[in-house]
Amino acid sequence: MLANRQILLIVSGSISAYKALELTRLLRKAGAIVTGVLTAGGARFVTREALAGITGQRVHDDLWAAEAEIGHIRLARLPDAVVVVPASADLLARMAHGLADDLASTILLATRAPVLVAPAMNPAMWEHAATRANMAALRARGVTVIGPGVGAMAEAESGAGRLAEPDDIFAAVAGLLAPSARPLVGRHALVTSGPTHEPIDPVRYIANRSSGKQGHAIATALAALGARVTLVCGPVAVPDPPGVTVHRIESAREMLAACEAALPADIAVMAAAVADWRVAREATQKLKKEPGAAAPTLTMALNPDILATLSHHAQRPGLVIGFAAETERVVEHATAKRLRKGCDWIVANDVSGDVMGGDANRVHVITANGVEDWPEMPKDAVAGRLAARIAEALR
Ligand SMILES: Cc1cc2nc3c(=O)[nH]c(=O)nc-3n(C[C@H](O)[C@H](O)[C@H](O)COP(=O)(O)O)c2cc1C
Repeated sequence: MLANRQILLIVSGSISAYKALELTRLLRKAGAIVTGVLTAGGARFVTREALAGITGQRVHDDLWAAEAEIGHIRLARLPDAVVVVPASADLLARMAHGLADDLASTILLATRAPVLVAPAMNPAMWEHAATRANMAALRARGVTVIGPGVGAMAEAESGAGRLAEPDDIFAAVAGLLAPSARPLVGRHALVTSGPTHEPIDPVRYIANRSSGKQGHAIATALAALGARVTLVCGPVAVPDPPGVTVHRIESAREMLAACEAALPADIAVMAAAVADWRVAREATQKLKKEPGAAAPTLTMALNPDILATLSHHAQRPGLVIGFAAETERVVEHATAKRLRKGCDWIVANDVSGDVMGGDANRVHVITANGVEDWPEMPKDAVAGRLAARIAEALR
């Protein structure tokens, strides 16, 4: 699995950096080609010579010197995987914020290869709200995290923060590069996300509370499994998922047109909260409040049904998945919706609480074979599980 695979190993500033040498030995024994990159912090703990000796390759530690030798973009594009061992709190923070202020962070921002990080730090640093937020952001972007573990540390302090063992990191790297880790390579997935805005006049619109968090997480998870992903999304504040083609639209009609333009696709996951109705006649000028006049009456028209349209399309994707947002009799309504729309699965969620805009979701997956009740979990975990389920169905 690892024979002749290119691994870029970034070593950052932690006392546990010496273990990166043992990991390198294991990777090379398995036939991998390992290129070492040292951060300024990493170079305080492991010498350039030690890393060069054990990788058998030139070590890169300076953005500007690397530029002259090979180019930072080439360094970012070459590897099959980028592995950060150990990952210091500082480097993780720089990754989470998209900084590119040294060679390591620039490679991490420029690479399209899967990224694995093995954090190592003092337990107080690991538990700090800043580190936790950084880790949540990295996980949501599809970065694989191994460890840290609990156990003896350099400081006499207890808690999590100890670098994962080289054997375990080696297994995680092998897992990252296994063909089964990217079962959706060669597949095109179309995902919708967020709300739609239905205009009333040039300044007003009708919307809903969808944040796009769940749909965007699904696009990220499908891309992480190797799919080429087209994301059609309404107005949202969440950032674009990396490595995904994003088409921004406003109304349901624009969403349908963008979805049809994206076909053919193997998978369609319709997670957007599409408005059922629009204002029948959008005013071309701002509606004016005239003194003494009654409030205007808005006449509504039915919007196109995107899920039903794709389910009956001449270029119907092989697997069409709809979402149902229900506030009562969730499974019953969603089961009826699956049959009515002609889609393959419905992912039903109870949106009577704070699901819309929140970070957690509890869903029921309704297929032709019955209902699966999934426990409540973070939206990115729901996305990961759904993507794995999709890969299994297409196998
Ligand atoms: C002796 C010593 C041990 C350190 N160990 C760690 C560590 O295990 N994890 C960590 O995140 N930072 C650790 N630090 C702090 C980092 O080295 C420091 O934040 C540095 O700026 C990280 O640089 P880098 O991002 O270039 O790797 C340690 C510092 C010293 C002086």
